[in-house]
Parts: sequence; C-alpha cells; structure tokens
Amino acid sequence: MPDIVSAEFAADPYAAYRIFRENAPVYWHEGTQSYVVSRYEDVSRAFRDQIFTTANYDWQLEPVHGRTILQLSGREHAVRRGLVAPAFRGSELQERFLPVIERNARTLIDAFRADGRVELVGQFSTHFPINVIVDMLGLDQADHARFQKWYTSIIAFLGNLTQDPDVAAAGVRTRDELAAYMLPIIARRREDPGDDLLSKLCLAEVDGTRMSDEDIKAFVSLLLAAGGETTDKAISALFANLLAHPDQLAAVREDRGLIPQAFAETLRFTPPVHMIMRQPAEDVELSGVAIPAGSTVTALIGAANRDPDRYADPDRFDLFRSDLTTTNAFSAAADHLAFALGRHFCVGALLAKTEVEVGANMLLDAMPDVRLAEGAAPVERGVFTRGPGALPLEFTPAA
Ligand code: HEM
Repeated sequence: MPDIVSAEFAADPYAAYRIFRENAPVYWHEGTQSYVVSRYEDVSRAFRDQIFTTANYDWQLEPVHGRTILQLSGREHAVRRGLVAPAFRGSELQERFLPVIERNARTLIDAFRADGRVELVGQFSTHFPINVIVDMLGLDQADHARFQKWYTSIIAFLGNLTQDPDVAAAGVRTRDELAAYMLPIIARRREDPGDDLLSKLCLAEVDGTRMSDEDIKAFVSLLLAAGGETTDKAISALFANLLAHPDQLAAVREDRGLIPQAFAETLRFTPPVHMIMRQPAEDVELSGVAIPAGSTVTALIGAANRDPDRYADPDRFDLFRSDLTTTNAFSAAADHLAFALGRHFCVGALLAKTEVEVGANMLLDAMPDVRLAEGAAPVERGVFTRGPGALPLEFTPAA
C-alpha cells in the first residue's frame, strides 16, 4: 500500500487514493497509528455518525493555538459552536462584512492590475482571507502584514511533519505574540463593544456561558489557520482548474453565475483539506473492517470526493456535472466533503464561498484574457492541506 507520509504520495495522492479505495478501503497505517478510510460512504459516516468524536488534536493544536473549538466534543462543543456560529451567518455577511470582502479584493488587485502579470498565490490568495479576517475582527488594517507573518508561522507549525525545531519554536513564539497583541484589545472591546466580529464574540452568550479572553484569542488564532490557508488554496485551485480547462474558463467568463458551481467542483476535485482525524467512541465497522473504540481514523476527504461510486468519471474536473449538489452547502445533505459534515461542519463555509465568489469575479474583471505565464506548470503541494504552490499568470491589463 502507498504510504500517506511519503514523497511519492505527496507528488500524486490521487493515484494512491484509487489504490486504497479499490484494494484496502480501511487499512492500518503504522506511521500515523490510524485506520485510513477512503470511500465516500465511510468518510461521510465518520463525519456524520455521532459514534465518532473529534480525534485528540491537542498535541498538534494546543502549542500554537491554545484550546479551540476543533478540540472539543459533545456538549462543550455544542455550546462553543452556538457562541461563534451566529457571527458567520449569511445575514451578517451580507449586511456587515460584504463591503469588507470587496474592499480587500480590490486593494490587492489594484496593486497588480496594471502589470499584466501576477503570481496569484503570493500576491492575492495568501493575503486576501487573512486581511478579511483582520478587518472583520475590527483590528487595525495597518497590521495586515503582522497577521500575515503570524499566519505563515502558524501554518508552518501545523504542517511541520519533519518536526523541524526552528519551525516549532517559531509557532510557540507566534502564540505568545498573538496573545500579547490580542488580550488587551479583547479587554477593551468588552468595555466598549462595537459591531465588529471581535465584539460579537465578546458579547456572545449561550445558557449563561461566555467565552473567556483566552478562548477568544484561541479562536482568532484558529481563524487564521482554518479560514486562511483553506480559502487561500481554494481560490488558487479554482483558477488552476479553470486554466487547465479553457472551455470551462470561457464559460465562466461569459456567465459569472457559473462561479458557485466552479467553486463547488473545485472543492470536490481539489479540496484544500485532504485529511481529518476522528475517533469512534464504540467499536464500529467500516467497509467490513472492525475498528476498535478509541482508535484513530484518518478520513481521506480527497479520496472520498473522487469515489466513482459517488461521482461519475470522478477524476475529471467538470463544473457542469449533474451529480454534485451546489445549492445546499449548509445543510447536512451537502455532498462533497471538503467542508466536512455533521457537528464540526465548517463554521466559515459561507464566508469562504462569499470570499471566493467576490474574489473570482473581481479577478476575472481585472484579467479578461487571463492565461498561465509562458512556461508555467502549476504543481500542487501539501499532504494534510493541499493547493497550487504558485500560479504565475499573464493578462492584458483592462483599459
Ligand atoms: C472546520 C474546511 C474556510 C472556520 C472545518 C472543517 C473543514 C473545513 C474540513 C472540519 C475540521 C474538522 O472537523 O476537523 C474549510 C475549507 C474552507 C474553509 C475547505 C475554504 C474553502 C473557513 C473559513 C473560516 C473557517 C473562511 C472562518 C473564518 C472554521 C472553523 C471550524 C472549521 C472555526 C471548526 C468548526 C467546529 O469545530 O465546529 N473547515 N474551511 N473555515 N472551519 Fe473551515
């Protein structure tokens, strides 16, 4: 069996996913000490079935974020979810945060629109979601660069598979710097709240419970990683997929109403998050394999999203496919698994969708004849999270 922690796997996980699904849909992997699960039916069950709780992420997340919603289960999780989720509802986004999203896309695009060339990952998609989060929180826009540095350090920490001690130390330093920056601001917002996201988090109350200053700081730290890296990769993957399929790019350019479909198909075909860990609280069986209570299950989103039992011709990027639901991404019936399902279903899914739709529209306006730069061949990078390493583009600047 291919090893999910190897250079061959990182180069082309989709080939390995095919082998797993067909030959060993549930197999024991020594390296991660987990049962690796690859079929759509099994991965969606691991997300939906109440038997599965979130895996023990503390060792990975605690040193850099503190204790976040992702590490919680049961009632504790439900309360925390109730405290944060209302701030990410559609009405909030439309009424309060859409102008923030549009302004940030415009500022980044204005910096390169006259150049006729852009490296989309480094000049747009890495910055856009972080700048949006900073502004939604009501923090100082002059601090975008400082948050970008913290964001880079946090995702390096989370992706530090080789346990590089310098990367680990930088991650812990970032936790301390973010705390020193955020805690005094949180204290001030409690005294004098506004209508920004940070104030909403300070005021949120469920059954008499509020978040502590430390909880809010940890949530802000999580937002940088969970909301930044994923949306970053989704935007660049959307463009990489469309550029690799010029007929579909032409269709989207003509009819911007196709962007949501192109985004949903991007999340199915090239999801930003490829793997999620879960733990069954009881003995359970998946694809005929017995999994003992308390063991770790690695659910392969990237493999499930290309399961031929669920999607016809799954290795083909096709925004017009009829077997992908795009309209109900926020109900448990959503079908691609890129946002997970069930209790930990992505809190920021609607924000991500809004950012990508606004960003893609404005990018297409600024780059009417966008094409890959001469000689460029984009390569996907990453194992747990994955997306184009770089995307050099050329275009004729709009008049
Ligand atoms: C949870 C994917 C954007 C905030 C998740 C999970 C996935 C995911 C797979 C489940 C994690 C798990 O169960 O271990 C994505 C993708 C995105 C995206 C693919 C972009 C295309 C965002 C944004 C935000 C966000 C923009 C907020 C700013 C969160 C939070 C959770 C979460 C707070 C934890 C929810 C919980 O534990 O109940 N996301 N996400 N995400 N996401 Fe996203």
